[in-house]
Amino acid sequence: MKPEVISNPILGDCRKVLKTLEADSVDLIVTSPPYADRRQHTYGGVSPDEYVEWFLPISKELLRVLKPTGTFILNIKERVAEGERHTYVIELILELRKQGWLWTEEFIWHKKNSYPGKWPNRFRDSWERLLQFNKQRQFNMYQEEVMVPMGDWAESRLRNLSKTDQVRDESKAGSGFGKKVANWIGRDKVYPTNVLHMATETGNKNHSAVFPEALPEWFIKLFTKPGDMVLDPFMGSGTTLRVASRLGRNSIGIDIKQEYLELTQERLGLQLQLLEENGKYETTQSE
Ligand SMILES: C[S@@+](CC[C@H](N)C(=O)[O-])C[C@H]1O[C@@H](n2cnc3c(N)ncnc32)[C@H](O)[C@@H]1O
Repeated sequence: MKPEVISNPILGDCRKVLKTLEADSVDLIVTSPPYADRRQHTYGGVSPDEYVEWFLPISKELLRVLKPTGTFILNIKERVAEGERHTYVIELILELRKQGWLWTEEFIWHKKNSYPGKWPNRFRDSWERLLQFNKQRQFNMYQEEVMVPMGDWAESRLRNLSKTDQVRDESKAGSGFGKKVANWIGRDKVYPTNVLHMATETGNKNHSAVFPEALPEWFIKLFTKPGDMVLDPFMGSGTTLRVASRLGRNSIGIDIKQEYLELTQERLGLQLQLLEENGKYETTQSE
């Protein structure tokens, strides 16, 4: 029997819909919530000053539905307000920790194709945060799934190994981490860094803030196995759900706007049809 992939896009306010989901049922949450105030004209922004207060009841539900071994990835970037970076993301991190989350890691999404521009007191913004939160220190992580080619680094660095490179170099900061560069001689793949170089997808005329498929894909591979459950409480055009189904993961998405639900259903439907055609999975899109 072929494995089944179930995708469930839901119309509604995630503040309500999340309450209906089962506790400890999700392996990975990947999401990009509305940015503070940024896109008020398209889908109702939240003011930067109220952002933390708005987000905390949502993250409380996310904490409840996530399995103890699961991971929550939050794509966010503080906007500039009155000439300086607003501090709501920093405040949010502190409050999430008080709520019970561990702030385990921060990845940077380097937007390789950000368009040129000139501002009087800053340069163009080419990166966003991908904050990683967990419920406990031991969580599922499949590092081999995201290894990258060794690349040019090997040529220059491994050819001229210093004495330190040939023994284990313990961290000078006493973190307990160390490295032995010589261990990597002869290998063609290495673990990636925490900077993800991905282009934004500019061709989507139907939703103004999609993230590239490569972004949820990287985290889905890193933190889940086929058959696991992925949740995006701010699903937008359904990028997370489409990628999850392509990778054989089940998924739930929530969006408050009917037009985005319809867009997701349509694009997801095409994805599921493709999966059925190549005969690997049985697929279901819940109504
Ligand atoms: C930044 S977009 C997400 C884009 C998505 N990552 C994609 O690739 O298409 C945020 C989405 O959150 C939705 N949204 C805003 N408030 C919401 C709420 N309270 N509950 C559910 N969805 C909400 C918006 O309609 C919007 O589509």
